[in-house]
Amino acid sequence: MQATESAEHRAEKHQEHGTDAGTEGKAAGHQGGTDDVDRFDFMVVSNRMPVDRCSPDEPGCEDGWRRSPGGLVTALAPMMTKTDGAWVGWHGAPDEHLEPFSHGGIDLIPVQLSTRDVELYYEGFSNATLWPLYHDVIAPPEFHRAWWDTYRKVNKRFADAVIRHAAEGATVWVQDYQLQLVPRMLREQRPDLKIGFFNHIPFPPPEIFAQLPWRRAIIDGLLGADLIGFQRSSDAGNFMRSARRFLGASVKQQQVHVKGADGQTTHIARAQAFPISIDVKQISELAQKPEVIERAKQIRRDLGNPKTILLGVDRLDYTKGIRHRLKAYEELLEDGKVTVEDASLIQVASPSRERVEQYRLLREEVEGTVGHINGTYDTMQNTAVRYLHHSYPIEEMVALYLAADVMLVTALRDGMNLVAKEYVTARTNNDGALVLSEFAGAADQLKQALLMNPHDIDGLKDTIMRAVNMEPAEAARRMRAMRKQILTNDVDLWSADFLRALQEKVVRDDS
Ligand code: F6P
Repeated sequence: MQATESAEHRAEKHQEHGTDAGTEGKAAGHQGGTDDVDRFDFMVVSNRMPVDRCSPDEPGCEDGWRRSPGGLVTALAPMMTKTDGAWVGWHGAPDEHLEPFSHGGIDLIPVQLSTRDVELYYEGFSNATLWPLYHDVIAPPEFHRAWWDTYRKVNKRFADAVIRHAAEGATVWVQDYQLQLVPRMLREQRPDLKIGFFNHIPFPPPEIFAQLPWRRAIIDGLLGADLIGFQRSSDAGNFMRSARRFLGASVKQQQVHVKGADGQTTHIARAQAFPISIDVKQISELAQKPEVIERAKQIRRDLGNPKTILLGVDRLDYTKGIRHRLKAYEELLEDGKVTVEDASLIQVASPSRERVEQYRLLREEVEGTVGHINGTYDTMQNTAVRYLHHSYPIEEMVALYLAADVMLVTALRDGMNLVAKEYVTARTNNDGALVLSEFAGAADQLKQALLMNPHDIDGLKDTIMRAVNMEPAEAARRMRAMRKQILTNDVDLWSADFLRALQEKVVRDDS
């Protein structure tokens, strides 16, 4: 395979943009095309690319870039650093045009979004229509035709970037709810491509999905893919039921026979669960690094060496159940079951979607509650809740995981929740306790966690106390079993399983 531009040329071009393009031996995987662009045999497409624009004073910001937020990037970045291929995505800054470049060993193809696109496609349709609709309508979804029009237009822009850079017969893996129309757009213009789609968030039951005025177009968009992956089998089932109900699709077991305008089957789309995971090696290695272990001890010392440190780590999102967690913790302080001398709760809430109304309201509420709890229970020496509205580099996160005796994952609905998996992986001594919501996808795999319903505040309080008072032998037994599950199901296996299934020849099930 041959690059259409030499590595040197690309390096020169990208140096102009202040990036490390073309310097990391990633030219393999490109193929010559008729026009003057690099073409790739494998492409990942997601709304965000793995790095995001930042200002130098923000923690974790290096040379104007930091790791993008969210589970999607956590899961896919490790694979892409080891794979020849390109990642198509938005780099987080509106109105900035960038040429393709390379960063951290990954070839990146930026898609430009204007300020208005960000407002209508990203903040609007993706995060104020689809996000709440797909997460059990915890917040009311808004339906606006102008948002939908921009969603379609931006999906087309992502599809066009793929069409331009995909080699003949390439494999394209489209990611997440922001890009559900891309599979169909690709199939129409490039039937030579193998098209996979993975939904990182839940897929709602048809009774809720029914609210979406554009439900048929979304299902049709997804059915452009050969393989549609979901976190849980219940998500795959919800999708299949919606395909049958809203498109009248002929669904047999996990297959949909997709018909063209002439009524003939064009291809068979399959829907299946592929529970996502994390880079186990990276987290385990960090957890055993002397400087990370020392940093964990430092964190404990800084908090006054309490008997128990509890930890929550979330994007500041209303799906994460942060309010429920704080309510339960406040009541435990009130009941005297925990005291500020003996226990401290660290809540990392990384900034997210800050211009979306629901997120603004949530921030106000969470910060008001934290202020109230601390005002009531703090002493000169001790703080009840250490609240940190930042995102941190992975080394600091692992130090926090090591410092924490109890991890609280109280999501009201979550596709997977990789924080739960990271915590378990970091506990190389088999100690610590995980309190895990049954509404997080991770609950399907981490059955030895202390599973609970976060809406049941009394139940949540009891579960937190069980975790705080757990005997070391029971903690070790649970942690060992959970570690075994994760260590044998890391993210490399997840991507390999998905991509293997995508290449499988589908046997038509006409029974
Ligand atoms: O993992 C789910 C996800 O929604 C990703 O699609 C998204 O990139 C991430 O979480 C973080 O959200 P955002 O990109 O809106 O900051």
